[in-house]
Amino acid sequence: MVTDMIPPATAPAFLTQAGWDGAAIVPLAGDASFRRYFRVVDGGRRAVLMDAPPPHEDPRPFIAIAQHLLGQGFAAPAILAQDLTQGLVLIEDFGDERLKEHVEEDPAGELAVYRRAIDLLADLHKLPAADVPPYDRAVYQREVGLLTEWYCPALGLDVDADAYHAAWDAVLPIAEQSASPVVTVLRDYHAENIMLIDRPEVRGLGLLDFQDALAGHPAYDLVSLLQDARRDVPPELEAAMLAYAQGTRPSGIMQPIAAELSGTEIRRLSEHYAGMAPTGPAPGPATGDAETLALGRRIAEQGLPEQGVPACASCHGTSTGVGAGRAEAGGQQPLYPELEGQFAPYLVQQLTLWTEGKRGGNAYARIMEAAVRTLRPEQIEAVAAHYAGLQPAGSAAGTQAGERQP
Ligand code: HEC
Repeated sequence: MVTDMIPPATAPAFLTQAGWDGAAIVPLAGDASFRRYFRVVDGGRRAVLMDAPPPHEDPRPFIAIAQHLLGQGFAAPAILAQDLTQGLVLIEDFGDERLKEHVEEDPAGELAVYRRAIDLLADLHKLPAADVPPYDRAVYQREVGLLTEWYCPALGLDVDADAYHAAWDAVLPIAEQSASPVVTVLRDYHAENIMLIDRPEVRGLGLLDFQDALAGHPAYDLVSLLQDARRDVPPELEAAMLAYAQGTRPSGIMQPIAAELSGTEIRRLSEHYAGMAPTGPAPGPATGDAETLALGRRIAEQGLPEQGVPACASCHGTSTGVGAGRAEAGGQQPLYPELEGQFAPYLVQQLTLWTEGKRGGNAYARIMEAAVRTLRPEQIEAVAAHYAGLQPAGSAAGTQAGERQP
């Protein structure tokens, strides 16, 4: 909608008033609204000028939510100056490094930065929701109505909009009932609105574009992030992050699934498997020539990007506690079984079942299936040999295991 990026005529006077006399005003971005953003540069300091002209726009929700988030310890841009009559707001500049470009430049850091983004949501969801309108049925219906109102006509499709809305009325109560707790829904939480900033106390992440925030379902922002319309989040990353989010969330719709797969059950299950007579090669200590072990180690630590196999360690972690599945605190999360020191024939058997699509199991098994589907037999042997030869973190002799709970 933005047609020009010429700064509003009122900007220089506003900036002078705000103590930024003579600063240069550089166009930054517009969005699907009348709002426009400019960068204000004055010697070494920078800020962002938001132009949200009334009557089309109202900067007050942005200011209120920014202050709420700041008060809760998140990095929303600080409000430096405001003129509500003109719709001008001077805000802190978070720079240009968005999550999107950050992961493009450093693909290996993708998992880590997405974990931080999910940790941020988990923090947000533990706190009281902002004083904003509820994400209620009317809003849901308005949003789903965009499909029949805009998309279908654009394709020349004739649809029964009333029946469509009635169908939503039948299923939306399920979402409404599971919205517990009701949280601040930022609503545009995705790779182009999350800024990488140099502030460890906020997990290095700055928030933008939250002016439409509502109080609603805790899954909403998680889905915005993982089913991002602006960047293809790899399915195995999405699956891993969903599993990870279940470990960080205090409660919610996914809780029953996580509870179903408790740590004890996983342990019982692996004891059961470990006690079974192996059907594969004869049991014995892990063996493998140097080349095989090197390949196994590479698969474990780096994956096989050319085959779409992520590093096993990115989910299963390492015995020193790194990885999505091993909480920093040292406590093991039940989601990702420990692989170190497991019997090689057992590992081979499990991995083979997955590559053949026969392992079955619950939602977690599908995560694993997606990750290892393309492994070839010799690669399976190699990664199994690698893990079988490692010291289990929980073993008495494991010197690195000290930080972990039994
Ligand atoms: C995207 C996350 C993810 C990645 C990457 C991943 N796994 Fe898994 N893995 C899981 C999950 C989740 C489970 C638990 C599934 C279940 O037991 O149903 C699992 C289970 C396993 C098991 C069964 C362990 C047991 O004790 O029953 C083995 C063996 C295994 N993974 C090996 C590997 C290997 C080898 C790699 C690397 C090639 C790998 N995994 C990569 C998520 C992952």
